[in-house]
Amino acid sequence: MSGDSAHTTETDLRIPEGLRHLAIIMDGNGRWANSRGLRRTRGHKEGAGTVRRITTTCAEMGLEELTLYALSVENYVKRPRHEVEFLLALLKRFVVRERATIMDNNIQFRTLGRTDEFPKGVRNELEKLRELSSSNDGMTLRLALNYGGRSELADAAKKVARDVQTGHLALEDVDEQALQDRLYDPRMPDVDLLVRTAGELRVSNFLLWQISYGEIFVCDTLWPDFDKQDLASALSSYGNRKRKFGGLVRPVDA
Ligand code: FPP
Repeated sequence: MSGDSAHTTETDLRIPEGLRHLAIIMDGNGRWANSRGLRRTRGHKEGAGTVRRITTTCAEMGLEELTLYALSVENYVKRPRHEVEFLLALLKRFVVRERATIMDNNIQFRTLGRTDEFPKGVRNELEKLRELSSSNDGMTLRLALNYGGRSELADAAKKVARDVQTGHLALEDVDEQALQDRLYDPRMPDVDLLVRTAGELRVSNFLLWQISYGEIFVCDTLWPDFDKQDLASALSSYGNRKRKFGGLVRPVDA
C-alpha cells in the first residue's frame, strides 16, 4: 500500500463519532491526466490505484460502509464508447486483481446500479467477487456502477406499484419504509459523510435518497491524488459538524 503522507498520523485517521457510512464521488481523473498531457484513460488507471489505497485504509480504520461512485448512468450513455469500454475493462481487471485485497481485509463487496446492462464477462467477475466475499463481516465496499439516484428511485417506485398491483402491499402501507425496502440495497444505511473530490459543488445524481441528511465535504484534490491526508481532513471536518436531522442540537434548549 502506498500513498502515505509525511503529515499523516494515526490520530488523524480515526473515525469520528457517528460516522458509519462514507460515500465518495471520485472526480478529476480526466483533469489529472490532461494537466500532464496524458490521455483521460490514464487518469482512470491512476484513479483505480486510489480506489485500492483508500479502500484498504478505510477497512483498516474500521469503517463500516464505504460507497464509491465509479460510473453513473449518465457516464455510461454520454461518454465516448472507447472511454466507457476502457472503464469496464479496468473495472473487470480491478475486481480480479483486488480479490486478495478484498479478502485479506475482510471486506464484503457489493454493487449498486444497473449492472445487468454490462457485458457478461464484467457481470460474471462482479458476481464472483460478491459471492466470494459475501460472508466477510468487516467493511462493506459498494461500487456504484451504471448508477443514478433518479433511476434507483424510479426502479423502487416500479417495485412498489407492482407489489400494490399484485396485492403484496396495501396502498395505505406505501410509506418511506416501503420505498427504502425496494431500493437497490435496502440494507445500506443512510450516508453520514459525502466526499467529492476535484472541487465541483454538486451531487450529480448520487444516492439522492440516502444523502438526505448527509454531511458534505468537497476538496480540490483530484481523485488520483486523493490520499490519507485528504481523507483525514474530511473526517476531521465531519467530526466538527453538529448534526441535527431537522431537530435541535440540544433539545433541552427548546
Ligand atoms: C470522474 O472523473 C471519474 C469517473 C467517471 C470514473 C471513476 C473511475 C475510477 C476512479 C477508476 C475506476 C474505478 C474502479 C473501481 C476500477 P472524470 O473523468 O469525470 O474527471 P474530469 O471531471 O476531470 O474529466
